[in-house]
Amino acid sequence: MIILGIETSCDETGVAICDNSKIISSYTKTQSIHTKFGGVVPEIASREHEKFLPEITDKVLKDSKLKYSDLEAIAVTSGPGLMGSLLSGISFAKGMSQGLGIPIIPINHLEAHLNSAFIEFEALDPPFINLLVSGGHTQLWLVKDLFEYTLLGETLDDACGEAFDKGAKTLGLNYPGGPEIEKLAKKGNKELIDFPRPIINDGTYNFSFSGLKTSLINCVNKNEYNLSDVAASYQEAIVDCLVGKLKNSMNDLNINTGIVCGGVAANQRLREKLNELDKTIIFPSLKYCTDNADMIAFLGEKKINNNSAKIGINFSAYSRGMVV
Ligand code: KG4
Ligand code: ZN
Repeated sequence: MIILGIETSCDETGVAICDNSKIISSYTKTQSIHTKFGGVVPEIASREHEKFLPEITDKVLKDSKLKYSDLEAIAVTSGPGLMGSLLSGISFAKGMSQGLGIPIIPINHLEAHLNSAFIEFEALDPPFINLLVSGGHTQLWLVKDLFEYTLLGETLDDACGEAFDKGAKTLGLNYPGGPEIEKLAKKGNKELIDFPRPIINDGTYNFSFSGLKTSLINCVNKNEYNLSDVAASYQEAIVDCLVGKLKNSMNDLNINTGIVCGGVAANQRLREKLNELDKTIIFPSLKYCTDNADMIAFLGEKKINNNSAKIGINFSAYSRGMVV
């Protein structure tokens, strides 16, 4: 089946074509316009999606050497995400579905992340635990089987990507903050400042980053340390929380495969510490870790083949939650 995927839940405009579980063409445009505002501006994100979707779709089709008439179905992210952004993608996808007379299926963005590792690791066999770490989410999921997921824990306040982004702002760095903190941290001493590791030993699989951010602000205000040492110590605290909870969940549930996805999975210090665990940790390619339409098209096809797709135009965007 040839299926087109569309992803517009936040500030990445993604379009991809999947044919028989293989991604044959794909493009993700990261909206750089938000950098100057220090974070994603929802209304601008919606408008950018609307502006770029037609030309990105044309490009992806051209690259695949297919025609619009070759498409057999459309999968589109329906939530969770920014309402306006989602609606831009959904309206475009519904228009295409009507115009081409092909079925449309709504896809949950989180479920797509949980399945994205299958794009490259076809033989991957559940159960596994997925650590989803992005600007909007910090969650630990148990993937028991195909389409069977249990949320083990999540952040009680900020997402870890937000902790990087807000931390970077406090340190006078640019958005997105994760890569900036990582760069500065390379020159610093990660053991110099003992930032808290909130709720690391509370017996749950939850996370909390807002207190850590407050500690950072207090530390910077004191003006005692080199910013590179502050960045290295702050990054280490975030990484310890993520590694600690993934490790605990894998030990407690006796699961030996962990998968890390989301933009924060790009962090080299996180990768280093996870690789020190006595476990199999899989890092999908970065293009599949961050938001992309490949995972939307891929899951859409899987659901259609499994007869579990909610086919039809009667759906709308939602800002929160997992709807399978
Ligand atoms: O999954 P993603 O690309 O998009 C959304 O959340 O929508 O994740 C973006 C987040 C941002 O908070 C960014 O600062 C963080 O991922 N990030 C990183 C790194 N690269 C991106 N955090 C830590 N280290 C990095 N190298
Ligand atoms: Zn995402």
